[in-house]
Amino acid sequence: MKKKISILGSTGSIGVNTLEVIRSAPDRFEVVGLACGANVALLEKQMEVFHPKIVSVGTEAMALSLQQKFPHVEVLWGEEGLCALAQEDCAELVVCALVGAKGIKPTLAAIGAKKDVALANKEVLVAAGAVVMPEVQKQGVKFLPIDSEHSAIFQVFENHNRSAIEKITLTASGGPFLHRPKETFSSITPEEALKHPCWSMGKRITIDSATLMNKGFEVIEAHWLFNLTPSQIEVVVHPQSVVHSLISYRDGNTLACLSLPDMKAPISYALSYPERISTEVARLNLAKVKELTFLEPDHEKFPLLKLSYEVAKKGNVFPALLNAADEVAVEAFLKKQISFIQIAKLIEETLSSYSKSLPLSLEGILEADSWARRKVGELI
Ligand SMILES: NC(=O)c1ccc[n+]([C@@H]2O[C@H](COP(=O)([O-])OP(=O)(O)OC[C@H]3O[C@@H](n4cnc5c(N)ncnc54)[C@H](OP(=O)(O)O)[C@@H]3O)[C@@H](O)[C@H]2O)c1
Repeated sequence: MKKKISILGSTGSIGVNTLEVIRSAPDRFEVVGLACGANVALLEKQMEVFHPKIVSVGTEAMALSLQQKFPHVEVLWGEEGLCALAQEDCAELVVCALVGAKGIKPTLAAIGAKKDVALANKEVLVAAGAVVMPEVQKQGVKFLPIDSEHSAIFQVFENHNRSAIEKITLTASGGPFLHRPKETFSSITPEEALKHPCWSMGKRITIDSATLMNKGFEVIEAHWLFNLTPSQIEVVVHPQSVVHSLISYRDGNTLACLSLPDMKAPISYALSYPERISTEVARLNLAKVKELTFLEPDHEKFPLLKLSYEVAKKGNVFPALLNAADEVAVEAFLKKQISFIQIAKLIEETLSSYSKSLPLSLEGILEADSWARRKVGELI
């Protein structure tokens, strides 16, 4: 029996890689739903190849025009469309590959409809882990990480030895500015920041990798996924991005997961779990890689990583504020409204001016998210 899969964000970097994995294993997987925002031209091509039963697009106008071209496909739109698609009966597994807090409601909709979820959209856990993880437990669904670091931890996590885990180590490529002097950071352009040395990804995560905000988000993501305290999660810079992450057990043994940097490796594990399928991922040849290096992150150059630990410890709606503030600041940087170093400054200022007390519920989180967006807007 083929596993029936829906992909939220099929036109993005993770979405496209997910479809490549599916295309290379047509006897294992079937696409039943696809959703995108604005890139309807690419969605149409995907529909012609994968024949989904249901799709969702960004706006009503896009939906109307797409429906005319594909009269036999159910075409939805907007946030409601994403949530309806996530709940659709025909899918067993929903791949959440949207970007940002807009993924929270569709992810919760999928879990609520008892779908297994493969999560790339880390901001969902960063902002709303406190609501999402109890729902995962309540519904008894599988919640599978796609982020390469979290997939690595998931693959070497010995559930029967959970209490023997001392710490986990998330690796970070260090981004494009690992060796650039801090004094020149104010002149960094979006074009420079979008050139990631190891990975080809969407714009938000690429900028977040350049500031190390992405690694901070991953600390919070790991805290929720693996039920570890922030102090059990360390970060080490590893520019080759071959060792994806490690777990250290109390007997002195450390287990790591390695592969060449290609998102199709963690995606295929999430799609086929608990089995492993053959993939076209290039195989690791350590003699060719030659060198694997590791170094401490520079918290002076990249203050957002340290801030993430503080936010993770504070908990409550602070991680939601962090994500929302970053989302707006990154957009402003890409539009050249603020400089690279102002991203961190704006986020810090937004968090330190927060004095409300909101309940730790979905409503509270969404209200905090809106507040932070308004605040950063005012500061800009
Ligand atoms: N890329 C990676 O290698 C990688 C690795 C680890 C984790 N992640 C995480 O995975 C998530 C996706 O990253 P990505 O790099 O794939 O991002 P991306 O390339 O920017 O793709 C985002 C996807 O979300 C869709 N989308 C955006 N706004 C939407 C809206 N309002 N309604 C419906 N769809 C919308 C986009 O559709 P349109 O393009 O059609 O507008 C696109 O399909 C992020 O959370 C990221 O942190 C990515």
